[in-house]
Amino acid sequence: METKEILSNEIGFSMPRIGDKAPEFTAVTTQGEINFPSDYKGNWVILFSHPADFTPVCTSEFMTFAHLEEKFNKANCKLVGLSVDGLYSHIAWLRTIKDKIKFNGMKDIEVKFPLIEDITMNVAKKYGMIQPGEHKTQAVRAVFFIDPESTVRAIIYYPLSLGRNFDEIYRALIAMQTSDKFNVATPADWEPGKDVIISPAGSCGMAEERMTNADDLDCEDWFFCTKKLDKDLVLKEVLKS
Ligand code: BEZ
Repeated sequence: METKEILSNEIGFSMPRIGDKAPEFTAVTTQGEINFPSDYKGNWVILFSHPADFTPVCTSEFMTFAHLEEKFNKANCKLVGLSVDGLYSHIAWLRTIKDKIKFNGMKDIEVKFPLIEDITMNVAKKYGMIQPGEHKTQAVRAVFFIDPESTVRAIIYYPLSLGRNFDEIYRALIAMQTSDKFNVATPADWEPGKDVIISPAGSCGMAEERMTNADDLDCEDWFFCTKKLDKDLVLKEVLKS
């Protein structure tokens, strides 16, 4: 299965790569047991790790993700968090967040998505979330984007000291869905409404055709052609998927 495709190092940690099937696990979470990724088949899922409960950067991130959960759900994406703390610590931390913490204009925030307990580091090790050069026992801030077929599509890692940018996480999700739906690529800093990139010409004839005849394309050169893609069409297709 996919295990032979997963990078392993000498201390038994592994790391799925883009294009691999998401490694399977069963876990206890703050929302009950989950079987991953089978419970999420048909949805995109963002599986993300954080170093520890009751820490400030993580608290700011959890509040932000919880605040944005509905927006992610509307893009057919579920959220699943993880740290190597235990279930009761998770529950106490989420209760404290709701009862006491204000951040960035947010307060009374209830985290409704599952937070995995991973004291054994079973999941963290499977997903390369423990990176011993950064910390031996706390997970780094990893973000795995997993598509409806359970394939890992993108991975972002941040160090312990750096809180994630959730606009970028959402932008990446929408961009990948747009690529899938419209068979296009998205250039630097793309957002819905901006021009998209079409795949490079695969023959001399196609290169010539694009430079001379393709009215719907805007070609800087034969290998760099963009086209318009209506923002409302993108959002209609992506948000209904
Ligand atoms: C934090 O979330 O604040 C944090 C966690 C681990 C190391 C440094 C900061």
